[in-house]
Amino acid sequence: MRYKDKEPGQIEVLGDRYLLQSRIGSGGMATIYRARDLQMDRDVAVKMLREVYSTDPKFVKRFQREARAASALQHPNIVQVYDYGQTNGNYYIVMELVEGTDLRSYMCSHDVLDVDRAIIIAHDIALGLGAAHRRGIVHRDVKPQNVLIGIDGSIKLTDFGIVSVYKDAHAERLTTSGMTLGTVQYFAPEQAQGEIVGPAADVYALGIVMYEMLTGHTPFDGNSPVVVAMQHIQDQPDPPGQFNPSIPAALEEIILRCLEKMPGARFPDGSQLARALEKLGDAKMGETVSMVHHLKPHRTHWSFASFITTFILLATLLLFGCSAYLAVQLRFIHVPFVTASMTLPSTTAGFIEVPDLRTMSWLKAVATSEKLGFRLVLVGGQPNGVVVDQNPRAHDKAAKDSTIDVKLEILTPKIGLQPQKPT
Ligand SMILES: Nc1ncnc2c1ncn2[C@@H]1O[C@H](COP(=O)(O)OP(=O)(O)OP(=O)(O)O)[C@@H](O)[C@H]1O
Ligand SMILES: [Mg+2]
Repeated sequence: MRYKDKEPGQIEVLGDRYLLQSRIGSGGMATIYRARDLQMDRDVAVKMLREVYSTDPKFVKRFQREARAASALQHPNIVQVYDYGQTNGNYYIVMELVEGTDLRSYMCSHDVLDVDRAIIIAHDIALGLGAAHRRGIVHRDVKPQNVLIGIDGSIKLTDFGIVSVYKDAHAERLTTSGMTLGTVQYFAPEQAQGEIVGPAADVYALGIVMYEMLTGHTPFDGNSPVVVAMQHIQDQPDPPGQFNPSIPAALEEIILRCLEKMPGARFPDGSQLARALEKLGDAKMGETVSMVHHLKPHRTHWSFASFITTFILLATLLLFGCSAYLAVQLRFIHVPFVTASMTLPSTTAGFIEVPDLRTMSWLKAVATSEKLGFRLVLVGGQPNGVVVDQNPRAHDKAAKDSTIDVKLEILTPKIGLQPQKPT
């Protein structure tokens, strides 16, 4: 039986417990109701999925697994999932009711958000994501409609995981490529290619949300999901500062890092992004503090104490320089395509032979290097091409856990590959 939207005056109690009261809103796959939890005596939101799935055991299993995982998430920036169930084959999720609005409606009524407000919202979403990522849960559908803003000013992310179970089950019905325009605008390149996604895909989506909050539009737009998906994969976003000069350079840098094509080049998860946004706040505080200092008259005579301080500072700098040089040489830190000049003996403990990644696709190259304990960094070219250059070179020795820089190109007969000998 198909679930019908509740008619006015019709009394509906789900699972002998949730009394549906009024309709709050609806999206592509569900209707959200305000309801009364008769057992707990509190107001809740019920998300009623539209289609009947009781006949698809795979869907039921995944739905239950994701719903259980989502209900284990407790964080001030995540809408709490209380319960889930089904009635006549229609699945529903019971969650915390957020009285307020969602970020999509908020942006519609505010045009471009001011920088401080946008940072606070992004930081709260990043914290919520970070909590989920720590538990191995990826949201997969971060977008303004899924960010709820309470009348008390709270920011909460909703629709963790469960929604993508529904969307995957419906993929072929949404569009021929399994994507809707409203969602694909926030898809990371790897998600647009249908790959399994990790926390960095949520970081990318949040980068798009930040971009939109501050410029009034998403970086990639088009009239079909496929066009937008291709833009995510191939095009570089215009720096958001071009559209809004009040965006500080450091914030623009954070947004552009979230929008890196390669997941490994972004902030690895929500917590790291939240930390970067916090530092931005600290820097702003620093600016204010240094301005205050600037306004104060200060004494400038040369004392013994300041001589000692300068000496210690110079010594520290020298030490830091030496360590940095050594670290680059030993490949403990990474400067793209800077080759260490020290040749390492093949017997050096902890050093292993660098694989020949050339002609491999990005995914294959990542798998090959990770198996050996290397991390891959894309430093140029076309993400959907094949590896045409790498550093360190194939068969060199490098420390386990160090990085290999690669450049990818779409191979045409004109782009040949040079044989590589170990350095
Ligand atoms: N827990 C909640 N409390 C209050 N309002 C909510 C809650 N969850 C959702 N809403 C409101 O209901 C609207 C519809 O939500 P819904 O998740 O069904 O659709 P969507 O996110 O716009 O699209 P999609 O179908 O991709 O999920 C939201 O935009 C929001 O305004
Ligand atoms: Mg939603």
